Amino acid sequence: MDVQSNAPNVPVFAVTLAIGAVILLLYMLFGTSKKEEKENNSSVSEEIEKNGARTSSKKISKVHQKHIKKNTGHVFAHDLLHTSLKGHSGQVLGLDMSINGKYLASCSDDRTVRLWSVKDFGVGNRCVRVNVELDHARQARFSPDSRAFIAGLAMENTVRVYRLGKKDDGTTTCSPLEEDFEKSTSSDLLNIGVGASSSGGSFVMTAYKDTTILIRNLKGHILATINTNQGNNNYACVSPCGRFVACCGWTPDVKVWAVMFTRTGEFREVVRAFELKGHTSSVWTFAFNNDSTRMITVSKDGTWRFYDTQIEYDKGQEPYLLNSGEINVCGNPLLENYTFIALSPDARVAAVANINNIGVFSTRTGVKHVEFKEVHAELITAITFDIAGRYLLSTGDKHIRIFHNILGYKEKIIDLEAKQKNLPAASATKERYQKQITEAKQSLEAITKNT
Ligand SMILES: *[C@@H]1O[C@H](CO)[C@@H](O)[C@H](O)[C@H]1NC(C)=O
Ligand SMILES: *[C@@H]1O[C@H](CO)[C@@H](O)[C@H](O)[C@H]1NC(C)=O
Ligand SMILES: *[C@@H]1O[C@H](CO)[C@@H](O)[C@H](O)[C@H]1NC(C)=O
Ligand SMILES: *[C@@H]1O[C@H](CO)[C@@H](O)[C@H](O)[C@H]1NC(C)=O
Repeated sequence: MDVQSNAPNVPVFAVTLAIGAVILLLYMLFGTSKKEEKENNSSVSEEIEKNGARTSSKKISKVHQKHIKKNTGHVFAHDLLHTSLKGHSGQVLGLDMSINGKYLASCSDDRTVRLWSVKDFGVGNRCVRVNVELDHARQARFSPDSRAFIAGLAMENTVRVYRLGKKDDGTTTCSPLEEDFEKSTSSDLLNIGVGASSSGGSFVMTAYKDTTILIRNLKGHILATINTNQGNNNYACVSPCGRFVACCGWTPDVKVWAVMFTRTGEFREVVRAFELKGHTSSVWTFAFNNDSTRMITVSKDGTWRFYDTQIEYDKGQEPYLLNSGEINVCGNPLLENYTFIALSPDARVAAVANINNIGVFSTRTGVKHVEFKEVHAELITAITFDIAGRYLLSTGDKHIRIFHNILGYKEKIIDLEAKQKNLPAASATKERYQKQITEAKQSLEAITKNT
């Protein structure tokens, strides 16, 4: 067994959450966004840059750089582009949506994390700016209750926890916990994540580029160590539902573990749940839908595979392949290390980013619906859908692009109309489907009217 429990009795429950007067992020965003903060500590930043500490920014091979046009004067326009969020002064390296669907966090090598309100997408560039002192974050992940986020520090190669709160005058406060997580391994951080159980237990995942994944409590204390045995880790994440940790690497499979808590929310153990199999070469990346009932993978073998993972894995059931296909984006075969995939919350739509292009396709038909070419002036670093499935977000330069997910509405209409057919005329379900179909059609109409 490749899972060790180091400290099963450490109380896992939420340092960040336990602190008294933590007030909902909701208030904060509204209280403060008017007050755009000025650049500060720039002298500190410049000094660090001169000392070469920024070499931790993603190294881009010459081969890949060739695909990117000169960074100057890049313009991108598309009918489906809802808006672009502007504010970062450096390359944006990571995106995360809060589980309540209200907020987006973006982190950049400009040493800030910015918090945006989804409600304000398309009405300016209001955001809350959080400085990352003496470092920059490559990943930011909200806690399940959206009252804190964790940041993966690029230079220190560890995690810092930020608690969100609000002062009496309405100003947002965002303070890091005093100590960053203990490093525990010399391998580079690959990804971070926060998970939670229904019983109130929570954990932080830190995944590394070797074969290590650490499961920690919110103070950073290690609860379990996973050796993925996959040669190296290409990608790892915590599922949006917060229950699973999954990883792919040199081998042609994806391994999925369940992080188990007791009924009172104390960490119990990490168990192997299931595997996604069938690729003939390394899996580069993968994604879950919102409740982990579907997963999608992309491999070096040039194909994607879409799985039903709504299974009783503890009874030996295995994921079931629903669809698969070959993949390229804008005519280019995918390049290793520059491929990202996102699955819409309802699993009807997948988006694959490669270099600085994006392809969007239906998981039902496998047919590509639209391609966005040269979306960013630099290599894409992240793509994700918002929690409601209305938007597809991408980044890679200073901007965050927000696209309408019209394929999501179209697929929803097709799916629900098909389901509706077999229902008796007066059924409540039929009525509910009809309402959803009407809403989806209205959303589509509103988008096409504005484009
Ligand atoms: C920078 O921060 C200091 C406090 O650390 C403050 O006194 C100063 O006004 C700030 N400068 C700007 C330009 O915001
Ligand atoms: C500026 O940087 C110094 C040194 O890291 C830090 O102590 C201070 O709190 C920072 N001030 C602001 C306003 O960010
Ligand atoms: C992708 O990243 C891995 C690990 O950093 C590296 O060993 C490999 O050479 C990279 N592949 C390409 C094609 O750059
Ligand atoms: C997942 O998304 C679907 C479709 O958008 C939604 O109906 C469902 O409530 C979501 N489930 C969770 C656990 O968020």
